[in-house]
Amino acid sequence: MGLSKFLLVLCFSLAGALNVHRMSADDQREMFNRDVKDAKVAAVTFAFAKQFQNHMVLQRAPQRANIYGFSPTIGQKVTLELVTVPATKTYSYETVVHQGQGVGVGAWNFVLDPFAAGVVVNIKVVSAGVSHNISDVIFGDVWVCSGQSNMQFILLQVDGAAQEIADAHNYNIRVMTVGLTESSTPLYDLAKISEPWSRASNSTVGHFSAVCWLFGKNIYRSRHIPIGLVATSWGGTPIKAWSSPLALVHCGLHHEEETEQPQSYTEYVNKVGPEDRHRLQGPGNSSVLWNSMIHPLLGMTIYGAIWYQGESDSSGVARDKYNCTFPTMIKDWRSNWNRASNGQTSNTFPFGFVQLAPNHPSPGPTAGFADIRWHQTVDRGDVPNPDMTNVFMAVAMDLPDFNSPYGSIHPRYKRDIGARLALSGLAVAYHQSGIFQGPLPTGSHASAGGLIVDYGNTWRLHVVINDGFEVQCAHLRWVADPIVAHTNTTVTLKPNVCHAGEKITGLRYAWSESPCALHSCAIYETSHNLPGPPFISYADFDPKGEPYFTFDRQTHIRN
Ligand SMILES: *[C@@H]1O[C@H](CO)[C@@H](O)[C@H](O)[C@H]1NC(C)=O
Ligand SMILES: *[C@@H]1O[C@H](CO)[C@@H](O)[C@H](O)[C@H]1NC(C)=O
Ligand SMILES: *[C@@H]1O[C@H](CO)[C@@H](O)[C@H](O)[C@H]1NC(C)=O
Ligand SMILES: *[C@@H]1O[C@H](CO)[C@@H](O)[C@H](O)[C@H]1NC(C)=O
Ligand SMILES: *[C@@H]1O[C@H](CO)[C@@H](O)[C@H](O)[C@H]1NC(C)=O
Repeated sequence: MGLSKFLLVLCFSLAGALNVHRMSADDQREMFNRDVKDAKVAAVTFAFAKQFQNHMVLQRAPQRANIYGFSPTIGQKVTLELVTVPATKTYSYETVVHQGQGVGVGAWNFVLDPFAAGVVVNIKVVSAGVSHNISDVIFGDVWVCSGQSNMQFILLQVDGAAQEIADAHNYNIRVMTVGLTESSTPLYDLAKISEPWSRASNSTVGHFSAVCWLFGKNIYRSRHIPIGLVATSWGGTPIKAWSSPLALVHCGLHHEEETEQPQSYTEYVNKVGPEDRHRLQGPGNSSVLWNSMIHPLLGMTIYGAIWYQGESDSSGVARDKYNCTFPTMIKDWRSNWNRASNGQTSNTFPFGFVQLAPNHPSPGPTAGFADIRWHQTVDRGDVPNPDMTNVFMAVAMDLPDFNSPYGSIHPRYKRDIGARLALSGLAVAYHQSGIFQGPLPTGSHASAGGLIVDYGNTWRLHVVINDGFEVQCAHLRWVADPIVAHTNTTVTLKPNVCHAGEKITGLRYAWSESPCALHSCAIYETSHNLPGPPFISYADFDPKGEPYFTFDRQTHIRN
């Protein structure tokens, strides 16, 4: 560094330092006695981790936000001063640079006091006379939004975009988008931020993740607390790219398998320009996005995460392992986040996901998306469940958009998804009461008039069409079995659809890539018009040899 630049840095640092209201004698001594060589290096690399920026959201009380960064000088003192806006209160903290990850990399971290939602602050860190500050920082709930192209899909592309964008300034929400990078080793600082933290407005949300925004907006409308949204997603990426090596080993994934993209996805990607292609063709190797786009965020205190992914895992080994890789990734993210954030991010933090939407027009394949939808619930049909605690989902299989200009695999109906995901999020992550998930059967048994599927007392059914149920005959083939009658809690399926003498051995619902027209699957509940999720079950037999079905357990798909 040239002398003049060094002097500039020095003057700037001193000017900054003198603004410290409650600077200790030690601080002052250190400031004036400090070694010039240290100061030089510090001026270059003493820094906040990249996501700590102006206008950001820090996690509110009762959690405590972490603020961290890097320094070249292990043992050097770092002070942090937090001043409320308006400046009625000042909080001072002090720590020492410790050995971070990597040779010679020093790291520092502050665990702040808990601050209530809505408190606005300016924060300054000082070390060896160098200071950095971030301003207009607000406390609220921080949500991380991750996955592949349907999470990356921007608000400008959704059905109703103009209205959504014009409305954006009405919400106390701030957004940030992590840049697209991969890494073969875990990073401790983000390599890139593509959209810095900014207040939501018609000029900042248009290129932000639509599902992330619409989820956050619906949470805000109900909770009225500031929301921070961190979008970190990349099109065309399989779950193994977002999973740690340990999580993959747990599921027996030791080798790199080629990622097989759905054909419609490849067709769409081949039509777009080079920049979009980069966005849509993320890397597929194990852990490369965990390393670069999740790992650097782990020290941040967050409230929860949402996820929209699975299309790139809908064939082969990736598909059949998804009932392990998905719940394992959730548990692994939770425990790593908890550890890295000094226990401030819950090790059971709320995790929401979008169950895969439709793709090809019907009749589409039955494996692939249908299998992934089931595996997304760990083969149980709904969440939360004993294998997926504090997990919530939005069903999206009734939102086909075969003529989407972004390809049929990218339906534009993200507003329904945001509303449904927030509804289940409000129940699971914020403990609001009420119905948040569509109907699933509690049991089913044979009768003279046909198989009766009973949905219990939780929901009042709205039956939109008669098609969507299938029975399996004699362990052999699946046959459509239309609804012939229904009440507000049961549906009755047509009798005798199997050949004479064949027993019904299985029952499934909405088991195809694109099971119905828009908002027109068979089963909805009436309070929010939520679709019943797809399900599969295999028969048990009563003493008379009649089939009956239970649903309150894991059911693995039999091929
Ligand atoms: C914060 O940093 C900016 C630019 O780095 C500087 O202009 C400003 O004076 C600083 N504010 C305080 C309170 O140190
Ligand atoms: C964006 O918002 C600003 C301020 O609210 C407003 O003046 C402007 O007309 C809006 N632009 C569009 C395109 O909606
Ligand atoms: C990514 O995986 C492929 C196999 O699918 C392998 O050939 C390649 O070396 C891997 N790349 C990296 C950077 O590990
Ligand atoms: C996952 O589903 C497959 C069938 O698709 C089944 O064989 C396997 O046992 C299931 N694994 C877990 C962990 O549930
Ligand atoms: C279902 O219908 C019956 C009458 O057929 C009625 O008594 C009952 O209240 C209804 N249940 C709900 C949840 O609407």
